[in-house]
Amino acid sequence: MASISHTSSFFSLQLPSQTPSKTYNPRTFNRRVSASVSETPPLFASTQPETTKLPVKKIPGGYGLPVIGPLTDRLDYFYNQGREEYFKSRIQKYQSTIFRTNMPPGPFIASNPNVVVLLDGKSFPVLFDVSKVEKKNLFTGTFMPSTELTGGYRILSYLDPSEPMHEKLKNLLFFQLRSSASKVIPEFNSSYTDLFEKLENEIESTGKSSFTEANDQAAFNFLARALHGVNPADTKLGSDGPKLVSKWVLFNLHPLLVLGLPKLVEELLIHSFSLPPALVKKDYNRLYEFFYESSGFLLEEAEKNGISKDEACHNFVFATCFNSFGGMKFLFPNMMKSIGRAGAKIHTKLATEIRSVIRSNGGKITMGSMEQMPLMKSVVYECLRIDPPVASQYGRAKRDLMIESHDAAFQVKEGEMIFGYQPFATRDPKIFDRPDEFVPDRFVGEGEDLLKHVLWSNGPENESPTVANKQCAGKDFVVLAARLLVVELFLRYDSFEIDVAKVPIGVSVTVTSLKRASF
Ligand code: HEM
Repeated sequence: MASISHTSSFFSLQLPSQTPSKTYNPRTFNRRVSASVSETPPLFASTQPETTKLPVKKIPGGYGLPVIGPLTDRLDYFYNQGREEYFKSRIQKYQSTIFRTNMPPGPFIASNPNVVVLLDGKSFPVLFDVSKVEKKNLFTGTFMPSTELTGGYRILSYLDPSEPMHEKLKNLLFFQLRSSASKVIPEFNSSYTDLFEKLENEIESTGKSSFTEANDQAAFNFLARALHGVNPADTKLGSDGPKLVSKWVLFNLHPLLVLGLPKLVEELLIHSFSLPPALVKKDYNRLYEFFYESSGFLLEEAEKNGISKDEACHNFVFATCFNSFGGMKFLFPNMMKSIGRAGAKIHTKLATEIRSVIRSNGGKITMGSMEQMPLMKSVVYECLRIDPPVASQYGRAKRDLMIESHDAAFQVKEGEMIFGYQPFATRDPKIFDRPDEFVPDRFVGEGEDLLKHVLWSNGPENESPTVANKQCAGKDFVVLAARLLVVELFLRYDSFEIDVAKVPIGVSVTVTSLKRASF
C-alpha cells in the first residue's frame, strides 16, 4: 500500500516575487503566484456506514439475457433514450437511485457490462473510498483500451493506489505541477489572448466565431507551454497537436461515443470491436516525440525515482493530452455555455468584481487576488457542479459493502462493479436547491459548505489529491485555469453572446458578439 505523505501542494507553493509583474493591461498581463490554500486532506471521502438505520433493500433492476440484455441496454443508452433518459427512466421504474443495469460498450468489447449504478449525492462518494473499491483498469469503465495505445504501459489513470507504480507516477506529476506553478498565469494569458484575438477578428469579418474550435489550439498551447515549457509552434509539431490528440482519444474512447454516423455503422464499427491501434501509431509517435524532446528535466527526475524515461514520457503524453487537454475540451466550452446563458446582468457583476480586485492589486492577477473574488470563484464551482467534465466513475467492490442512498441501504457483493453517473450526484435535489439551474452565487458565503458535494475531480472539492487516493492530480491546476478563463474574459469584455449546439464530443459554442470592456 502506498504511503500517504504527499499531496499535490500546487497552491501551497510560495513564489512571492519570482515572476515580474506589470500594471493592468488585458493584452500583456504578467502575474505573481502567491496564494496558500492547501490543507492536509482527510484520508477517505466516503461516509458510507458498515451498518445502517435505513431499511435494507435488495438492489432493484437486472441485466437481462446474456448478450441480448446488454445489447438492448446499449441501444437504449446511445439511441432510443439517450444517456440521461436511460438513467431517469430507470430511477422512475425502480423507484430507487441505486439499481442494477448494463453499461456500454458490452459485447464484444467488454467481457462483463453488469454494474450497480449510483445516482444520488449520498451514495456516490463510496467510489472515492479506495479502502472499499479497487480502481484497477477501470478508468474508462467496463473495458480498457489496448495498452498498445500507450506505448505498452498501463498508465497511471488505470493503476490502483495499492500498486507501487501509482505512488511513483503520481508523485512525478505532482513534481511537474509544482515546477509549472510560476508559468501557469502568464502562459494562460498568452495562449488565451491569442484565442480572444482570433474570436474578435472572425466576429468582425463573419459575425461569429467558434469558441470550441479555437479552444482546442489555445488549450493545447497553454498546456504544452505551462507544463512542459515548450511552444508547439516552435517545434516539428506545429499546430497539429489538437488534431493528433483528438484522433488518438477517439481510438481510446470510441466504444463509448456516438459520432452521428448511421446507427448500424456505429454499432458495427465502433461499439462492437476495438479499432486497431496500429492505425493511430504514427500520430501518437509524433506526440510522444514532442513530449520526449520537451520534457528533459522531468524525465531526469523520473529516472532518479526509478521510472524509466520511456514510461514517464508515455505518462506525460497521457496526463497532458488525455487528462488535461481532454478535460479542458469539455470544461471550457461548457463554462462559456453556462456563463453566456447567465446573461448580461451577471456578466456586469463579474466584470465589476474582477476589475475592482485587480485594480486594487496593482493591476496584477495572482492566485491570492483571485481568492478575493467570491462571485467568480462560485461561478467556476457552479460550472464544475452542473456539467462535471468527466461524467462517469467506476470502482470494483473490494469486499461486501453496505451502500446507502437517501432512502434505503443496499448490499453490494465483493467483486461487483459499481458505477456512478456524476451529474445526477451533483444535481441531487436532496442536496442542492434548484439543482438543474445555474446559480452563479451558489457557493458564496455559507454556500461554501456545499463544496464537499462538488465532485468533478473524483473527490470532494474540499479534499486534495494524494498518492493514496485516486483524486485528479491536476485538481488545483484545473480550478486555477478555469478561474483564469473567467478573469481574462471579464477583464477584456463587459459581456458576450453565444449560440450553442450539441456535437458528438462536448458542446459546440459559437460566440456571436463580444462587448469590449467599457469601465
Ligand atoms: C479539466 C481538466 C480535468 C478534468 C475534468 C479531470 C478529471 C479527472 C477525473 C474525473 C479523474 C478520476 C478518474 C477516475 O479514476 O475515475 C482524474 C484523474 C486523474 N487526473 Fe485529472 N482532470 C483534469 C485535468 C488534469 C490535469 C491538468 C492533470 C495533470 C497534469 C490531471 C491528471 C490526472 C491524473 C494523473 C489522474 C489519475 C489519478 C490517480 O491515478 O490517482 N488531470 N482526473
